[in-house]
Amino acid sequence: MSMRSLWVTPMLVALLSLLTTPADLLAQPREEPTADNVFTGTLDVRMGERVFRQQCGRCHGRDGGGGESGPDLTNGFSASTDAGLFKIVREGIPNTQMVGISRRSTDQSTWMVVSYLNSLNETTDADLPGSATSGQQLFAGKGNCSSCHMVNGDGGRRGPDLSQVGSRREPEELASDLRTPDEDVTPRWWTLRVTQVDGSLVEGLRMNEDTFSMRLMDDNEDLWSFSKSDVRSYDRVKTSTMPSVDGVLTDAEVDDLVAYLFSLGREES
Ligand code: HEC
Ligand code: HEC
Repeated sequence: MSMRSLWVTPMLVALLSLLTTPADLLAQPREEPTADNVFTGTLDVRMGERVFRQQCGRCHGRDGGGGESGPDLTNGFSASTDAGLFKIVREGIPNTQMVGISRRSTDQSTWMVVSYLNSLNETTDADLPGSATSGQQLFAGKGNCSSCHMVNGDGGRRGPDLSQVGSRREPEELASDLRTPDEDVTPRWWTLRVTQVDGSLVEGLRMNEDTFSMRLMDDNEDLWSFSKSDVRSYDRVKTSTMPSVDGVLTDAEVDDLVAYLFSLGREES
């Protein structure tokens, strides 16, 4: 018999025997979770931590780092979604010591525990191999990144503003942004190559384009407007203007840049 049924069952019987028979109650299937987790704020995580310490810490360790009878929960789980994790926390894992949360706990506190478990698994800057300080120097120096990218108001406009990039991209995504810039280039960053009537070529980022006209920004950040009927020809180039760092920077330098970029726009945890 599990620890839970040893103490929960007599309590349910005592509390609820006036309302319903315990057999009915315990036989009721619990509803499947439908909504996404909406309890993800700082306070929710803290509440989840409290429940965790009361109900789970004795097996998984007070801070989830693993204990005598439960595995470390700070290095990922078999469940890959929040709903999957919710199910494990609520129902436990059959035929193991993993009993799950008390039957008296609400869906809300279960979601809070899920948020707490997720918080144990967030990548933090400390987990990354690179140095953000060195990355910042590379960004403005050898990497020449700031000639195209703005960070907190400084830099160029020929690429996206990166002030918040750490809150929108994971470290692995940042590394592939640097190594394979031609993957997934949005139309906003395509290049227009225009041949004028006199044969001269003007090339730059495609700022906007409609049926009759187009506007581009050249390497000097100068803007050009053309009426489509007044040019000899034009092409859209759908690759990125950003050079890959492969062969230009070392792997360690790429790690440093990723650590720097990942720190941008995120609260330190
Ligand atoms: C009596 C000990 C015990 C208690 C109490 C307990 N667990 Fe577990 N837990 C385990 C064991 C043992 C496993 C591994 C089960 C297996 O063999 O798969 C486990 C597995 C898990 C897993 C799955 C890990 C993975 O890699 O998929 C999660 C998540 C988890 N527990 C969370 C919790 C939470 C949250 C609580 C409290 C509400 C809790 N556990 C209470 C013993 C316990
Ligand atoms: C010639 C201009 C140019 C240079 C130099 C340049 N980039 Fe870019 N970068 C771009 C453009 C344009 C894009 C958007 C198109 C794309 O995804 O490649 C981009 C995209 C990115 C992205 C993805 C941003 C997002 O919002 O998803 C990152 C990260 C990035 N660059 C970092 C760097 C770093 C770090 C360097 C220096 C090693 C660098 N860039 C050098 C032009 C440049």
